[in-house]
Amino acid sequence: MAIFGKDDREHVRLDREKLPRHVAIIMDGNGRWAQRRGMPRTFGHKAGVEALREIIRHSDDLGIEALTIYAFSSENWKRSAEEVGALMGLLLEYFTKELDELHRENVRIRILGDIDGMPKGLERQQSALHAAIDRTQGNTGLNLNIALNYGGQQEIVRAARQLARRAASGEIAPEEIDQAMFAGELYTAGLPEVDFLIRTSGEMRLSNFLLYQCAYAEFYQTDVLWPDFDRDAYDEALLAYQRRNRRFGGV
Ligand code: FPP
Repeated sequence: MAIFGKDDREHVRLDREKLPRHVAIIMDGNGRWAQRRGMPRTFGHKAGVEALREIIRHSDDLGIEALTIYAFSSENWKRSAEEVGALMGLLLEYFTKELDELHRENVRIRILGDIDGMPKGLERQQSALHAAIDRTQGNTGLNLNIALNYGGQQEIVRAARQLARRAASGEIAPEEIDQAMFAGELYTAGLPEVDFLIRTSGEMRLSNFLLYQCAYAEFYQTDVLWPDFDRDAYDEALLAYQRRNRRFGGV
C-alpha cells in the first residue's frame, strides 16, 4: 500500500472547500514527551519525526497547498552539542530516506532559513538540503517548507537588505516598494500567506516564526505534545479553523 494512502475514516467531517491554503506548525514538546517516559530528549525528537511524517502525508491527502514546519530555529544552536548533533543526524536521515517518496508524491520542498550559514561540519546536511530543493523544484503538489536555521526577524532584515541593494543599484525606486514586493524577497516568495498557525504542547509564543507571513493567521494551540500530534489531532485543529470567522480587520 502506498504510504500516501487516502484517508478513509468516516467520522471526519472536514469541509474540503474551507481548508486553509497554508498551514504552519511549531512542533513543540518533544523533550517533555521523552522526559515523561524517562528517556533522553533525543528520543522525543525521533518520535517527532514519525509524527511529522504522518502530518505531511495527511496534508497531502487533504490537498493543502502549503505546509510550513519549524524544524530548527537560528536560536536552537544554543542547545547542548548532543541534542544539536542528534537533530542534525535526524535531518540528514530524513532527507536521505524520504526524498524519493516525497518526490514521487509530487511534493515540492523549500528550506526557509540560512542553509549556507550553518556551522562547519554540516556539509553533508547542506548538500542533502540543496539536493532536495533542486530535485523537487518542478513539482506541483504539496509545498513543504522546512524552516531550518530560521528566524523571522532575520528573514525580514534580509529582505530589507535585498531591497536596499536593488534601490541603491537603481533597479527600483524606494517609492515602488510595497507589501507585494517585500513579500517577494521573503523565503516564502510566491506562496500564500499563512492562514492557520498551530503550536503544540501548550505554549503561547510565536518564537520568531514567520513574523511577516502570519499577519492574519488564525492561531491554534493544543496541550498535545508534538510526538502525539496525529491525524485525529490535526483534523480537530482543522475543524476548529473552519469554525473561525476570519475578518482580516473588517467587521
Ligand atoms: C521542539 O520541542 C522541537 C524542536 C526544537 C525540533 C523539532 C524537530 C523535529 C520534530 C524533527 C526534525 C525535523 C526534520 C525535518 C527531520 P522541544 O525540544 O523544544 O520540546 P520541549 O519544549 O518539551 O523541551
